[in-house]
Amino acid sequence: MSEKILIFDTTLRDGEQSPGCSMNLNEKLAFGRQLEKLGVDVIEAGFPIASEGDFESVKRVAEEVRGPIVCGLARTGEADVSRAGEALENAAHPRIHTFIATSDIHLEYKLRMSRAQVIDEVGRAVTQARGYTDDVEFSAEDATRSDREFLAQVFSVAVEAGATTLNVPDTVGYTTPGEYADLIAYLNDRVRGSDQACFSVHCHNDLGLAVANSLAAVGAGARQVECTVNGIGERAGNASLEELVMALQTRPGIYGDAQTSIRTGEIYPSSRLLSSITGVQVQPNKAVVGDNAFAHEAGIHQDGVLKAAITYEIMTPESIGRSSNELVLGKHSGRHAFRDRIEELGIDLDGEDFQRAFTRFKALADAKKVIYNEDIEAIANDMMISTQERFELLDLMIASGTERSPEATVVVSIDGSKRQTVASGVGPVDAIFKAIAEVTLTKSELIRYQVHAVTAGLDAQGEVTVTIEEDGRRVIGNGVHEDVMVASGRAYVQAINKLEWHKSRHGLDEPKGI
Ligand code: KIV
Ligand code: ZN
Repeated sequence: MSEKILIFDTTLRDGEQSPGCSMNLNEKLAFGRQLEKLGVDVIEAGFPIASEGDFESVKRVAEEVRGPIVCGLARTGEADVSRAGEALENAAHPRIHTFIATSDIHLEYKLRMSRAQVIDEVGRAVTQARGYTDDVEFSAEDATRSDREFLAQVFSVAVEAGATTLNVPDTVGYTTPGEYADLIAYLNDRVRGSDQACFSVHCHNDLGLAVANSLAAVGAGARQVECTVNGIGERAGNASLEELVMALQTRPGIYGDAQTSIRTGEIYPSSRLLSSITGVQVQPNKAVVGDNAFAHEAGIHQDGVLKAAITYEIMTPESIGRSSNELVLGKHSGRHAFRDRIEELGIDLDGEDFQRAFTRFKALADAKKVIYNEDIEAIANDMMISTQERFELLDLMIASGTERSPEATVVVSIDGSKRQTVASGVGPVDAIFKAIAEVTLTKSELIRYQVHAVTAGLDAQGEVTVTIEEDGRRVIGNGVHEDVMVASGRAYVQAINKLEWHKSRHGLDEPKGI
């Protein structure tokens, strides 16, 4: 009999806490919809009390994503739990996830509370949360550095108060596979009423063991795994969803015949969408979703793969939704062919978004001989996350050369009216950014500029990521175009729009932290 392992995705909460990975409401909604397609069981959509923006994101994701359980995080305080309850009011399947630290280190230095006080808090918070929903998860933060007997006592109180999921976080990425498996078995044995609850694991990757620890815990009886797409998250990140799911799928029987409901064909599109949203690309050698994950360089390997893929491939690129880079469309392809292809790629684009994507596709097809699936995905991702914007880059011209200093002319629409300006700079990108900064009056500082080729080939589209900062708020803008200068201008304008969005919420949306 196969055992179902619930996949709890916390990309929108723990993942979003990683430096430079903050997302706005539209981006969270787009990613929440993709998580539903991917087939995750639980989406942790945010930490409602952390900010007005977080509250709204949890609320909107709960209203729009109706299949999976939608979860909101809350410390054990009364205000936290009621804010989470409020945010989840309209959810089809709401879950409140409440937590408090249980290690002596945290009790002494952070909470300044006694063990008895922590136990009271847990009972009170779980009871309060049950007033909003029957689905309550309790986490013992820093569980892996907590006294085991005390931990078992805390979890017993949580079950008595009505918790249905007991999460055992390795908050600081400290444990090892054997030790963690042993802890899960111990808790299964010692927690009163453990048979009425599901044990969950949540691992951070400080020692690079997050996935190994999570899998070991599954082998020991954990039935929910908390993870993030691309493994993003606090510090070194969380356990990576794609690695966990593909390990369970590729090695059936090793972890007690555990199975997930993930549609693995959506893994790569999810990874790409997240990178487009955050501007954080995965490292080329990242397992499962990295650029080189299926690239065979050595001649002896290539020879083997050509004779029989099984010689060096333990899973296929297609099984995670990676296209084999085949030519899909060209400049003679029409609207129908484009629609068919985006449907095949599992991309939802309707009405105006479809029209805008099609126009971009036609322009690209004119400029570039071969259009790959990755090109279409990059355009579609750009459409899905674009917001109602104050500034729009309408036109861009560059003059540069060996004997002259680069000069950029930009035409920007500001709240619907056109403005044009010219600026020169050290290089063409500098000139473009100076012109855009002048016309938008942005006071932001440029922190990082990155270019990434969407596909192979000299005519590849460039994906530019720009990180800017103003008053301690860091945002990322993304632009995709076959002309890297245009992609750069678009990325910069998108970043400025994001700052505008945050400014329009000023005073409500303070940077958060646990
Ligand atoms: O790492 C951690 O302990 C957490 C909890 C809030 C579950 O993220
Ligand atoms: Zn965490």
